[in-house]
Amino acid sequence: MKLWGGRFTKPTNQLVDEYTASISFDQKLAMFDIQGSLAHVSMLADCGIISQDDAIVISQGLKKVAKQIEAGTAELTVSNEDIHMNIEKLLIDQVGAVGGKLHTGRSRNDQVALDMRLYLRDALLQIGQLLTGLQQALITQAKANTETILPGYTHLQRAQPVLLAHHLLAYVFMFQRDLERLMDSWKRINRSPLGAGALAGTTFAIDREYVATKLGFDSITENSLDSVSDRDFVVEFLAAASLIITHLSRLSEELVQWSSAEFNFIELDDAFCTGSSMMPQKKNPDVPELVRGKTGRVYGHLIGMLTTLKGLPLAYNKDMQEDKEGMFDTVETIKGALALFAPMIETMQIHQKEMYQAVAQDYSNATDLADYLVQKGIPFREAHAIVGQTVLYSIEQKKYLLELSLGEFQQFSKVINHDIYQVLDPKAVVNARDVAGGTAQKRVESQVEQAEALLKQSQLWLEQKITCLSQLTIT
Ligand code: ARG
Repeated sequence: MKLWGGRFTKPTNQLVDEYTASISFDQKLAMFDIQGSLAHVSMLADCGIISQDDAIVISQGLKKVAKQIEAGTAELTVSNEDIHMNIEKLLIDQVGAVGGKLHTGRSRNDQVALDMRLYLRDALLQIGQLLTGLQQALITQAKANTETILPGYTHLQRAQPVLLAHHLLAYVFMFQRDLERLMDSWKRINRSPLGAGALAGTTFAIDREYVATKLGFDSITENSLDSVSDRDFVVEFLAAASLIITHLSRLSEELVQWSSAEFNFIELDDAFCTGSSMMPQKKNPDVPELVRGKTGRVYGHLIGMLTTLKGLPLAYNKDMQEDKEGMFDTVETIKGALALFAPMIETMQIHQKEMYQAVAQDYSNATDLADYLVQKGIPFREAHAIVGQTVLYSIEQKKYLLELSLGEFQQFSKVINHDIYQVLDPKAVVNARDVAGGTAQKRVESQVEQAEALLKQSQLWLEQKITCLSQLTIT
């Protein structure tokens, strides 16, 4: 007999059981469900809704069920539909009819909303820590490369030289925004919906704040209908995750390009590459390729969740059971990628000489020649045209700008002097971008400091939350 079987005259069609059950995937919520139930039962006793003795029996039973599930000895069945009813059934098997008091003043609707929040805040902290790990790895490489010059690109055409540290720090700041988005969403995730009941609240004199405090929530949600219907926090997470994987995917693309023979800017460590079953010489950057590839599924989960929610009337609808797999998969996908990226970045070899050569054998100092002319009083637009002609001439002569003689330079403008050779040197070109956020070495060094300060702040925030949650005593 089903836990809700009283009103029914026949057993459910087996296909319906299988189709509507979520136990195959929502068992991921088991420990959070039990955590929530422990807080709920403690509140029921505290409010005098059930006896202390019953509460003790139920709590002990719940802990045994937790052990069974952890050990993999609990039988979870589709006929018990989802993790909530499976646990309740296991509890009743364990402690007898008194276990049936657990669900007093509660519905699966507020229960599942609670579990989702407990799961997601935990995942958020794990992802946050992995993000800071990746930022740290990028900063470490940046610090080792505050003098390494490589071409900066626009349109994937060499544009102006930059420091490798500058390039890597760009990603540190992207991941910083990602982290800030996650941290900001905390205040919307970390609120307790329990007590909303099925949709309208409950007739029992429960204490919602008690449960919220016990579970480490910052507050309770305001409106019971909204509490059971709200999955904004899932959407927000999926959106934040989409940006994380967008950034990872862009970095992946660069790593793939940079490790090609055509670029030869880096070599990923053997431990992070794979070979070919046929071509013995191959060393493939599978990890960044796969991360780039997995971007699609994360975006898909975001659109999937938004679409599930868009036409739903208040309050709970079974459609909402579709909130889980995409969220779980996104959490695993992001965690997997971040966990690999930090050590992969840390161990990659930087080919400084090849990077420098790509700068030296190019015209990416052309802007500096134009700026030089401007310093001598020539309007920028005119200077641009002069340099364009100089570059065209150089290409025809198969020379780079630094290989032109002073006489050749002066064919294009008389104001050019011998000091031009110093100005066009790649190092000088980089250091001339001496503006806040620019690529001059001292500006990049101060970006390192800024990044490290931000990193420290986020680490502190994460540690605080983790300590807070680990100190919860729920029994
Ligand atoms: N398995 C369900 C879900 O994930 C739990 C809530 C079910 N509520 C209900 N009224 N059928 O959404």
